[in-house]
Amino acid sequence: TAAAGDNRPLLHYTPEKGWMNDPNGLFYDKKADLWHIYFQYNPHDPFWNQPLYWGHATSKDLTTWNHEKLAISPDRDDEGIFSGSIVIDHNNTSGFFDDSIDPDQRVVAIYTNNADIQTQDLAYSLDGGYTFTKFHNNPVLDVNSTQFRDPKVFWHQHSNQWIMVVVKSQEYKVQIFGSPDLKNWKFHSNFTAGYPGFQFECPGLIEIPITGTNESKWVMFIAINPGSPVGGSTNQYFIGDFDGVEFKPIDHFTRFVDLGKDYYALQTFSDVEKADGVLAIAWASNWQYANNVPTKEWRSSLSLTRNFSLDYVAANPESKLLTLIQTPVFQTDVAKTLEKKNITLSANDSIDFEADSGVFEFELKFKAINALAHSDLANLDLYISSADGKESIRFGYDPVGQSFYLDRSNTPYKNPYFTGQLSAYVEPSSDGQYKIYGVVDRNIIELYFNDGVTAMTNTFFMSEGNTPSRAQLKTNFDDEFYIESISFNELSV
Ligand code: FRU
Repeated sequence: TAAAGDNRPLLHYTPEKGWMNDPNGLFYDKKADLWHIYFQYNPHDPFWNQPLYWGHATSKDLTTWNHEKLAISPDRDDEGIFSGSIVIDHNNTSGFFDDSIDPDQRVVAIYTNNADIQTQDLAYSLDGGYTFTKFHNNPVLDVNSTQFRDPKVFWHQHSNQWIMVVVKSQEYKVQIFGSPDLKNWKFHSNFTAGYPGFQFECPGLIEIPITGTNESKWVMFIAINPGSPVGGSTNQYFIGDFDGVEFKPIDHFTRFVDLGKDYYALQTFSDVEKADGVLAIAWASNWQYANNVPTKEWRSSLSLTRNFSLDYVAANPESKLLTLIQTPVFQTDVAKTLEKKNITLSANDSIDFEADSGVFEFELKFKAINALAHSDLANLDLYISSADGKESIRFGYDPVGQSFYLDRSNTPYKNPYFTGQLSAYVEPSSDGQYKIYGVVDRNIIELYFNDGVTAMTNTFFMSEGNTPSRAQLKTNFDDEFYIESISFNELSV
């Protein structure tokens, strides 16, 4: 078989060359109306290694990104600027700024300096986030640990202080600290819950509105690696209340943000205007194989930006559970479109769409109408294949298990950890309908079920020169599935 190829996604951010992992320092600059992202970056090789920098990119629309120059560099080649966040210090609590710097552009980065030990350090920017000066009195937080990292900081209005969540990785603790000025930090509390995995990484804590109410809850995100139920890296979250000192979960369910294998170390944007919602980006890979996937000059993409809200949704027919709702945010033109409605699919039919670019979205609404007549055999499948049909991924529904699957095994990249088949149970609406929205972007597919109640993100690697340019919806039995609607849009990026 041909070698698996680069197939660089167009809607998902990828570094021009070199290695990328976690998104860092995400913020919105109100004055310039510009989105900034930073990321764990090794510009020298397409694998993780030190010296590790913060790479940087900017966007006007969260869709197309400009590569920017390196933002923060380590002092030594055997060190790394590890993950962290950015805040806008509007009121100059840190004293780093003078009146010449617009309050919306008082950019302070709080990151882990990975040297002999891991400490939390500051760097500030006087040019709106392009170049940074390290604080002369770093570190600002040092507990003499080699496993203490990934600070996410935000201003907590209610208690009038900066809050940092940071992990004692291998003690499975999120630690909460408070500060008046970003420089002096006082320990408040520990939070431990859910799957320990082998280590906690990249925590997050943010208030998220509950749709249709005036209420909101605080959500604690904790990345674990390895230890995901589907292998390797994943994000879990907890919903609760935060009083400026302690996070108290409303229940002890472990909820997962994304059920695929390639969605890790998510981070929310700082300083987003309320109307824009709560926005987040993750790293679209998994430590089990991130360094090994068959792209050559560059490795890893970021996820699409997602809007996060909370809602009460059916966890099963009897009960509702407060759940994170995720919807992708991007803006593109539609190059080509197809829509079909009200079809009871027969085994001889298929609904076909071609998108030469390998970049398209689809929305499918369907019901299994007679499915149990053929019990274990009926499936509804969306094959997404190369132009010659020889390589494909298959996304489908199994009415017996009431579950969706994503099968990426018919692609040439093989790795024992690169799980071939993944599945997700999704509760149907009361009339048995499912709605799926998917974005296919050359080597990645993001799936959103029932308006974002469940998400599933997976990468896949076709041969050099192949793109996922054909989509075909079909079934193996007559009259099993009623397609209320299916639409495809090829997207021009
Ligand atoms: C998560 C992580 C972080 C760390 C960074 C190093 O993927 O391991 O804990 O800061 O990557 O690149």
